[in-house]
Amino acid sequence: MIYTITLNPALDRTLWINEIREDVSNRIVREESYAGGKGIDVSKVLTALGIENRALGFIAGFAGRQLVAQLIRDGTSCDFIPVSGETRINIVIHEMNTGRQIILNSSGPKIKPFELLEITDVIKRIEDPEFFSIGGSLPPGAHPEIYRKIIETARLRGARVVLDVDREALRVGIGGKPDVIKPNIHELSSLVGRKLEKRGDILEAAREINRRGVEIVLVSMGPRGILLVSDGNVYQAVPPKVEVVNTIGAGDSSVAGFIYGQVSGKSLSESLILATAAGTATTLRVGTALAQKRDVEEIAHQVELETIEEE
Ligand SMILES: Nc1ncnc2c1ncn2[C@@H]1O[C@H](COP(=O)(O)OP(=O)(O)OP(=O)(O)O)[C@@H](O)[C@H]1O
Ligand SMILES: [Mg+2]
Repeated sequence: MIYTITLNPALDRTLWINEIREDVSNRIVREESYAGGKGIDVSKVLTALGIENRALGFIAGFAGRQLVAQLIRDGTSCDFIPVSGETRINIVIHEMNTGRQIILNSSGPKIKPFELLEITDVIKRIEDPEFFSIGGSLPPGAHPEIYRKIIETARLRGARVVLDVDREALRVGIGGKPDVIKPNIHELSSLVGRKLEKRGDILEAAREINRRGVEIVLVSMGPRGILLVSDGNVYQAVPPKVEVVNTIGAGDSSVAGFIYGQVSGKSLSESLILATAAGTATTLRVGTALAQKRDVEEIAHQVELETIEEE
């Protein structure tokens, strides 16, 4: 079974209003709620690709219950640890007359240290886990060290681990030696502490991360696709040009596409093609909507793969 971990999930609430006016009561024309967070996005795309998986993490209060209900409605199973407080609600307001968008993000409940450690107990109890995908921001007050602990625990259980986090969480998390990381160029650049411009610079930076014990580094580069740097092989997969609607969740979809390939017995380069196609498939969808299987399959045929020989 594949597990995704989102320590600070969110209930994304989207409101549609004709025109936002000050000092009067604005009428909401339509409202929708979705389960959000980077690990949860991976779960949603895996489910869309027909891969059974389970979402783990922390939920709190009424918003947490609503988040679980949304996931179940969409066919993703989950096993969250309930904590006190309230799961964060992120609000997106669409002003229909102007097309303007207002986004309000909240930081989420504080999770007590003893509650945080429960996630490793949950991992220890899982029988025969295959993959863990860890993504997203830390809850307020949580130390990035928790990611290293989670990765070590998951690897001791014999599972492979993909880590998709940013900044300090990425730097500390790498200490747990995840099998795969998926930074974008900015994240990789801040990890190695220098600007990365040419492909050779990016490759060299990824090699540095290989040497720190991470077997596969997937550097995502937006419309330029993904560079895969592993011990033996280096590939770049470039997606076709598409009419991009919205790139929210593209990186998370790439993580799901890669795992989909790996658990379906595909080679490294085929998994990379699926990762690229899944990211691009998500850019075709409005708002927070993610990749559809049909699009992933169609785009995968159009992804160009280059094998890179190193000097
Ligand atoms: N403009 C685009 N055109 C085509 N494909 C795209 C575009 N943007 C993203 N993608 C696809 O999605 C993949 C992941 O996107 P990106 O590199 O932007 O990830 P990210 O920065 O981690 O995104 P996220 O905001 O979801 O964390 C890319 O490698 C590519 O395959
Ligand atoms: Mg990302």
